[in-house]
Amino acid sequence: MQQNDRVRVLFVCLGNICRSPMAEGVFSHLVKEAGLGDRIVVDSAGTGDWHIGERAHPGTRDILKQHDIDYDGRARQLTDADLGAFDYILAMDRNNLADLRARANGATPAEIRLFLDYAEGVNEREVPDPYYSGRFEEVYRLVRAAAEGLLDHIRARHGL
Ligand code: 4NP
Repeated sequence: MQQNDRVRVLFVCLGNICRSPMAEGVFSHLVKEAGLGDRIVVDSAGTGDWHIGERAHPGTRDILKQHDIDYDGRARQLTDADLGAFDYILAMDRNNLADLRARANGATPAEIRLFLDYAEGVNEREVPDPYYSGRFEEVYRLVRAAAEGLLDHIRARHGL
């Protein structure tokens, strides 16, 4: 990647209404705070199609609002084109990771990883799905830690 190319980051979960929109909102917020809004592109998608076009879950919207983070994205489904268009694709859990790897079948320039690989001081490896549990606060804590670690990683690796 050339120095002045933009770094492209995609967060992926199942429905694209709870976890990956929260990750997109938190990470975009950190990117803007760091003054890197014109250098890092951030998006999210779901492997499933149930919620296409919907706003984020009220639990995700509420917690982002509590942290003064604006988010008004609409759910969309992952496409084959996404696999070629992003530098980092971050899966919320191992099912998402397996779906992404199977779909990419080795033919992607993206680094496909579990998002929590970037979270320091966190024992969990997967972001638990709050769709049924309602544990959005716990999800926020994990997402925030991973977003901070991911931004540090990208800044170091891309000289930003
Ligand atoms: P997400 O949560 O993958 O974090 O957006 C879910 C949202 C919807 C469903 C499952 C998980 N669903 O089965 O509709």
